[in-house]
Amino acid sequence: MLCGVKIHRVAVVGCGALARHVHLPNIRKNSRMKLVAACDMDVAAAESARADFGAERAETDWRKVVAAKDVDLCVLSTHTNLRGEFIIPALESGKAVYTEKPLAPSLEDMRAIVRASRATGRAVCVGHNRRSSPAMLEFRRLLEKARRGPRGTTPSMDRSEGRAHLPEEDQMQLLIRINDDARSWKHWIFSDAEGILFAEMVHYIDLALWFNAAPAVRAYVEGKAIGNFGVVLRFADGSTTLMHHTLVGNFDYPKELFEATANNITVAMDQHFEVRQIGMRDEPTLRVFDYASESSWAKRKGMTGYMAEQEEEARRAAAEKRPTRWINVNKGHSEHLDRFLDHLEGRGENPCSVESAVPVTRVALRLLESSASGLPVKISPDDLAVG
Ligand SMILES: NC(=O)c1ccc[n+]([C@@H]2O[C@H](COP(=O)([O-])OP(=O)(O)OC[C@H]3O[C@@H](n4cnc5c(N)ncnc54)[C@H](O)[C@@H]3O)[C@@H](O)[C@H]2O)c1
Repeated sequence: MLCGVKIHRVAVVGCGALARHVHLPNIRKNSRMKLVAACDMDVAAAESARADFGAERAETDWRKVVAAKDVDLCVLSTHTNLRGEFIIPALESGKAVYTEKPLAPSLEDMRAIVRASRATGRAVCVGHNRRSSPAMLEFRRLLEKARRGPRGTTPSMDRSEGRAHLPEEDQMQLLIRINDDARSWKHWIFSDAEGILFAEMVHYIDLALWFNAAPAVRAYVEGKAIGNFGVVLRFADGSTTLMHHTLVGNFDYPKELFEATANNITVAMDQHFEVRQIGMRDEPTLRVFDYASESSWAKRKGMTGYMAEQEEEARRAAAEKRPTRWINVNKGHSEHLDRFLDHLEGRGENPCSVESAVPVTRVALRLLESSASGLPVKISPDDLAVG
């Protein structure tokens, strides 16, 4: 505790790409956290994380992190090769855990983590960080408002006037398009049979379940789990969410587009930097959002600003004979961890509880079955039960 501010003593387990680019810099920048231990089974990764991000010590054995008396929060950033085996004893030794997604590779593992969290009273937050992206939160606010009604502004000819409307008119339709570029992936993607459909789609399944009011009842995947696929998720009220994922996109083009329609209102979110809507006269049609802090050199905002900044940056980099800088966007990583600290201090909800991540990860596992069989799969209440 420093002048009434609680300092969370943190260990990062798994100091690979995500930890180095996201979690370790965010922890260093956040005055509410002190980095106590950087742990990785690869001694060079642990040592360089310690040296570069000012950890008090480096560790190569996660059991030492579990046993440590001076750590109260663990950030787990390995792949799913390490989940329940670490999380459960960490909770039992009194630590809170922020774990990267996917929550766990099996339903049994997930339910064991939920049980341990309940038994110990220690919280787990899952890294479905897009729930904390400022643009995504605005998209959700507008979508909730659109669904509550009244219906959107009327067109010049409105055949629905004075008539009972179709049951379909009470549904919400959502498109999630992910433009990915396989050239930017690391080598593991070639040997991981579950590929993107499990490891990456949990972000978007999480949002689809979060945005839809009714439970998911059916899912269908057309395409292979590695990357080029379409997913249809059907909900109990008849609403559908389509997820389109491509691996032959260009990484310089904005990756994530969300477009929802409800109550004759359209709401869209482009790559965490632009939110648009048509149909609600009391809301702006366009709002733009800041890029990630390390990309504050890019001044023009929104879709047109992003495209113009990219074109100019490519020209400048070529003239100056240096690599082109990415424009990083704010996908909510730092806000997600910060909201979890608030929760640990009793000042707000857990931004992504382990309970909410179980159905998400379970649906992802069912999608793998559909992709393998080429057939739709039923999502039963048992699939969505937490345990
Ligand atoms: N939330 C996001 O936006 C986001 C983005 C990328 C990756 N991720 C997730 O983050 C996780 C890590 O991804 P990455 O790209 O950093 O992978 P990575 O392979 O670069 O890093 C993983 C690190 O964990 C270490 N490790 C593995 N097993 C270990 C063990 N038993 N003990 C200690 N260290 C161990 C490895 O040595 C490696 O350094 C994955 O679960 C991935 O799905 C999330």
